[in-house]
Amino acid sequence: MRSLTFVALSALLAISSVNAQSSGSASATASASLALMSASPSAITADANNTAASGASVGKAFKYFMQVWLENNDYSTVAALPAYQKLAEQGILLTNYNAITHPSEPNYVAAAGGSNLGITDDAYYSIPANVSSIWDLVEAKGLKWKTYQEDIPSYGFSGFSAHNGSYVRKHNPAIIFDSIGLNDTRSANVVPANVLYDDIAANNVPAYSFYTPNITNDGHDTTAAFAGDWVTNFWTSISNATFLKDALVLITFDENETYSTRNQVWALLLGGVIPANLKNTTDNTYYTHYSALSTVEQNWNLGNLGRGDANQTEANVFSFVANALGVTNVNVTNVPMNNISIPGMLTNQSWNATHPKSTSTPLPSSSANSSASGSASASGAIAVTAVTGLGVATAIVAAVLPYLL
Ligand SMILES: *[C@@H]1O[C@H](CO)[C@@H](O)[C@H](O)[C@H]1NC(C)=O
Ligand SMILES: *[C@@H]1O[C@H](CO)[C@@H](O)[C@H](O)[C@H]1NC(C)=O
Ligand SMILES: *[C@@H]1O[C@H](CO)[C@@H](O)[C@H](O)[C@H]1NC(C)=O
Ligand SMILES: *[C@@H]1O[C@H](CO)[C@@H](O)[C@H](O)[C@H]1NC(C)=O
Ligand SMILES: *[C@@H]1O[C@H](CO)[C@@H](O)[C@H](O)[C@H]1NC(C)=O
Ligand SMILES: *[C@@H]1O[C@H](CO)[C@@H](O)[C@H](O)[C@H]1NC(C)=O
Ligand SMILES: *[C@@H]1O[C@H](CO)[C@@H](O)[C@H](O)[C@H]1NC(C)=O
Ligand SMILES: *[C@@H]1O[C@H](CO)[C@@H](O)[C@H](O)[C@H]1NC(C)=O
Ligand SMILES: *[C@@H]1O[C@H](CO)[C@@H](O)[C@H](O)[C@H]1NC(C)=O
Ligand SMILES: *[C@@H]1O[C@H](CO)[C@@H](O)[C@H](O)[C@H]1NC(C)=O
Ligand SMILES: *[C@@H]1O[C@H](CO)[C@@H](O)[C@H](O)[C@H]1NC(C)=O
Ligand SMILES: *[C@@H]1O[C@H](CO)[C@@H](O)[C@H](O)[C@H]1NC(C)=O
Repeated sequence: MRSLTFVALSALLAISSVNAQSSGSASATASASLALMSASPSAITADANNTAASGASVGKAFKYFMQVWLENNDYSTVAALPAYQKLAEQGILLTNYNAITHPSEPNYVAAAGGSNLGITDDAYYSIPANVSSIWDLVEAKGLKWKTYQEDIPSYGFSGFSAHNGSYVRKHNPAIIFDSIGLNDTRSANVVPANVLYDDIAANNVPAYSFYTPNITNDGHDTTAAFAGDWVTNFWTSISNATFLKDALVLITFDENETYSTRNQVWALLLGGVIPANLKNTTDNTYYTHYSALSTVEQNWNLGNLGRGDANQTEANVFSFVANALGVTNVNVTNVPMNNISIPGMLTNQSWNATHPKSTSTPLPSSSANSSASGSASASGAIAVTAVTGLGVATAIVAAVLPYLL
């Protein structure tokens, strides 16, 4: 990931509260929703018991939402590759979807927090536990969530990297939030990716999930073509999973590779809730990573974080969902560049972690629980530099994981 330092920007606070996205009245949308969904082979039906095992409640347009993030490739590069073209035949290609900023970490944070929260680089950050995130909204509604992380060495692992950098914290949208990372109960939802197959087998996939391939599979250290083959295989490997018939799946990229241009990335909607007549079509509505937030917030009536997810310009709801829900999107003609990180509360608050060295620590068995994280490979010294309002304090702490041990 590129590391850029942006200086002397106007000190806009990234977490300004704005008006919530407008939505149609529930009664007005109900019939439209039914009409649209009945076109789908897998109409959402009332299933009050669905929450029992999986936490997947009956959303208005889908019961499950999963996003899969690939890395650092330009829209034009990806769109030209056969693997992606073939996948796109099964879904709705979003031809005007945009990342929020550069480099990686602030995009992953924005995807969960509705803002880059001042993060402008890929260093070790801990977002104060009082900062809200989508994980809070999802839990407050009684829904379950997980992030599936390839090559994470243990459940809830909070180290900077593992397996020689194949797993990286900066690509983990949950653990950076201390409300998750410092809470054993919640960080148990941050799991090795192979757990997904167990969850599928047990019909226990959570309502809201995020899948992060390792830095080889996601294209970061390879190519868009490599990532295209990986994601094709990934999709094939889960394509007969039961949850998918009621799922909306977003496959996208964290950011565009070229900083000097608009931050457009390739993005595709898949899953059983895509109406049959919309498969193999495109949607040119202006979307961003905040659209993935606003779409689930509207689907499950979660409320919002009052940040980018509530900014009408940046948070159009995916059209077929917006139509089903009676949400009115805005026509964004003056498209934002989204190619720079907004300074804010976490600017200059990063740590320099000594990267835990790769060890022979095996992945935990998928039936292990979060207590297994005590055996993680990340014991070691971490130099912590905390920049406070009063100055810079440096400390050496023992990085025994999880932190609360
Ligand atoms: C829902 O769960 C209750 C209690 O377990 C059960 O009595 C009822 O039959 C279930 N309903 C459906 C539709 O499965
Ligand atoms: C949130 O927590 C941070 C760090 O502990 C603290 O500095 C800040 O004042 C808190 N903010 C609010 C609104 O409580
Ligand atoms: C670790 O990763 C670096 C590149 O990131 C690579 O050059 C090196 O060969 C890797 N080491 C092992 C043991 O895989
Ligand atoms: C990434 O995961 C794949 C399996 O999907 C594995 O073959 C590969 O070795 C992993 N990459 C690294 C760098 O560990
Ligand atoms: C940890 O998370 C659980 C589940 O959300 C919550 O009940 C508990 O209060 C949290 N603990 C702390 C210390 O915040
Ligand atoms: C799903 O597909 C995989 C491979 O494509 C196959 O091994 C598995 O048996 C299938 N499962 C079901 C339930 O059809
Ligand atoms: C963002 O894009 C604009 C317009 O191309 C360009 O002037 C600016 O330098 C870019 N910013 C960065 C940080 O690359
Ligand atoms: C990044 O996205 C912009 C906007 O679509 C596109 O013009 C540009 O081609 C992409 N970057 C490159 C080098 O393709
Ligand atoms: C998708 O649409 C293209 C034309 O836009 C067509 O050539 C292709 O056969 C379609 N694929 C499927 C699977 O329907
Ligand atoms: C909403 O997003 C637009 C486009 O990025 C930005 O210009 C505007 O300042 C944002 N509004 C608020 C209230 O933050
Ligand atoms: C958005 O606005 C542009 C410019 O006014 C117009 O050409 C376009 O048709 C509008 N698109 C939609 C979907 O309303
Ligand atoms: C982290 O290390 C880099 C490279 O040594 C240095 O440039 C940077 O200032 C350090 N950041 C902090 C927060 O200490």
